[in-house]
Amino acid sequence: MPLEAAPKLSVQHLSQSFGSFRALGDVSLDIAPGEFVCILGASGCGKSTLFNAVSGLLKITAGRILLDGRDIAGKPGEVGYMLQKDLLLPWRTVLGNITLGASLTRGATRADRAHAAELAAHYGLGDFLRHYPRALSGGMRQRVALMRTIAAGRDVMLLDEPFGALDSQTRIGMQQWLLQIWRELNRTVMFVTHDVDEAIFLADRVVVMLPKPGRIGWILDIAIPRPREMECLTSPAFVDTKRRIMDMLYSQATLHGVPGPDLSVPA
Ligand SMILES: Nc1ncnc2c1ncn2[C@@H]1O[C@H](COP(=O)(O)OP(=O)(O)O)[C@@H](O)[C@H]1O
Ligand SMILES: [Mg+2]
Repeated sequence: MPLEAAPKLSVQHLSQSFGSFRALGDVSLDIAPGEFVCILGASGCGKSTLFNAVSGLLKITAGRILLDGRDIAGKPGEVGYMLQKDLLLPWRTVLGNITLGASLTRGATRADRAHAAELAAHYGLGDFLRHYPRALSGGMRQRVALMRTIAAGRDVMLLDEPFGALDSQTRIGMQQWLLQIWRELNRTVMFVTHDVDEAIFLADRVVVMLPKPGRIGWILDIAIPRPREMECLTSPAFVDTKRRIMDMLYSQATLHGVPGPDLSVPA
């Protein structure tokens, strides 16, 4: 995708090793302001490691990570991050969980709580703010965990398989809910999934990662018009995109990391 504006986030020649093990080798990726990028790849190919590096939780081995042109490598708190196993604290209410970030860093103020409550209510969680996590369904708990990341107010959000554990019907509702929030709040999103349908449905671009070492294999523009409704899951453009991605993930070419053909998809 052409980047007209300066990138919001720029990952440049990022490498990450753990001892002698190379988890990521030379990953470069620019993300435009407001873009929704899905990262797709087999288990173990370094998706979570990429997020841990971008979020500042890791001391990176090599490379640069720029947010609005500023190097944020090794600086936590600059981007919002929902971890792959992001759990709610059972002894805090929904609102207490949503304001957790502020509570941990500087103490949640009355204004933090009011703002979080307003945001959560706007996105359908208003009736649950005083509930405890155990009273909620799995889907609702994930909405609360997502709302915690959203309420932290960062321009860039990293979401690591947020819907991975949900059944497919709950998941579709969650995807539409997330797209509505993304549209209305103008956030820049990086979203890890290993569900090909989910990646295509959500993304402006899909980044396919390959393992050993973790690296970018292909990047596809998803030119399917928005807003996307469920019907688009069976449209010819969608099915064609899915077939291309499946070919990439499973073909011999993928195993050997041979660059793929031009994969831009017509609308
Ligand atoms: N802190 C760490 N120390 C050692 N090895 C790690 C660490 N974090 C991740 N790895 C290894 O790096 C590889 C990529 O892991 P990960 O990023 O979690 O993959 P993915 O999220 O794509 O499933 C795996 O082989 C994993 O065991
Ligand atoms: Mg992972």
